Amino acid sequence: MTTRYKGLIERYRDRLPVDSNTPVVSLCEGDTPLIQLVNLPATTGKSVEMYVKFDGMNPTGSFKDRGMTMAVSKAAEKGAKAIVCASTGNTSAAAAAYAARAGMTAFVLIPEGKIPMGKLAQAMAHGAVVLQIRGNFDDGMKLVKEVAGEAPVEIVNSVNPFRLQGQKTAAFEIVEALGKAPDYHCIPVGNAGNISGYWIGYSEACGHNTASCTLCNGDCPYLENKLTESRPVMVGYQAAGAAPFLRGEPVSEPETVATAIRIGNPQSWDLAKAAVSESKGWFDEISDEELLVTHGLLASREGVFCEPASAISVCGALRDIKSGKIPEGSVVTCTVTGHGLKDTDTAIAGADPVVTIDADLASVKSAILNHI
Ligand code: F0G
Repeated sequence: MTTRYKGLIERYRDRLPVDSNTPVVSLCEGDTPLIQLVNLPATTGKSVEMYVKFDGMNPTGSFKDRGMTMAVSKAAEKGAKAIVCASTGNTSAAAAAYAARAGMTAFVLIPEGKIPMGKLAQAMAHGAVVLQIRGNFDDGMKLVKEVAGEAPVEIVNSVNPFRLQGQKTAAFEIVEALGKAPDYHCIPVGNAGNISGYWIGYSEACGHNTASCTLCNGDCPYLENKLTESRPVMVGYQAAGAAPFLRGEPVSEPETVATAIRIGNPQSWDLAKAAVSESKGWFDEISDEELLVTHGLLASREGVFCEPASAISVCGALRDIKSGKIPEGSVVTCTVTGHGLKDTDTAIAGADPVVTIDADLASVKSAILNHI
């Protein structure tokens, strides 16, 4: 019997809306590391067990692959030849890669000048048709929904419910890795699909039905096969310049250095609100300055290199642990959504400068001694 990991659809086939007619389009996504933080928790002065679910370790470098394997497999099942999405960069990278594998055309709408080069390179390399719009993500999302009614293209943004079904598997993996649900789960919120997907996953893992689950209709396959007894408190963090959940309404000109979550009109508004209220959690906002500090510390103190938007979950968790809002003794998981190699410009701008020296022993030796 082969033990080769074949991706999250095969792993969780009995918990996903697929059957023998679904052509599985996979890049072996999922099964990402749950890394315990060993240095940063102590900076809070409190004792907690803190983990990052490093979903930047997926094949295209972000959690989007979890949703995309489902969305593209279901599109293939329907016989679709083309997919479309609006994106701040990661969805477009994932859509492009999975479309390439499925022999489909991916059309991706991105905000002009607002996605990092790593993400743009991915969409281009995988052969997507890249449509750079003179507008932001929210403008692109609106256009995608309109064009899907007028052209033979399947939307693969998280308004497609199969996306959340794929993304819920991250919660299953966490519960399996810990042997139970965490007490708190902290997560970046942009278009609000991922927090909704996690809540579906955590709910199914303990046999709870949730209003958020649009597909199981009360017939949750986990009901008879619980993995855990409890669900975590869900905490969603937004960038202060793009924080519609904190303002209580859409934000028309979202702005943040965390370009992945530069979103003012989240599509999964109701599902995310339900996840937070059902779990007795909260939304909070983080300034660009704060999230960039954590972005640097995660790389330099923990060895976890993520993109700026991803650091917001750890930044918020550390703040809430320090203040006592998340109580001492808690088990806290944070989703780290995307890899640092996606946005090297921001990483380089925030790091110590490179030291240039002559190519001789004396120079190398004195440089080393200067730094010890
Ligand atoms: N972190 C990263 C790295 C992201 O790319 C995104 C969303 C989020 C967090 C927020 O997740 O939208 O489910 O609340 N990126 C989308 C994109 C919008 O187009 O790549 P969410």
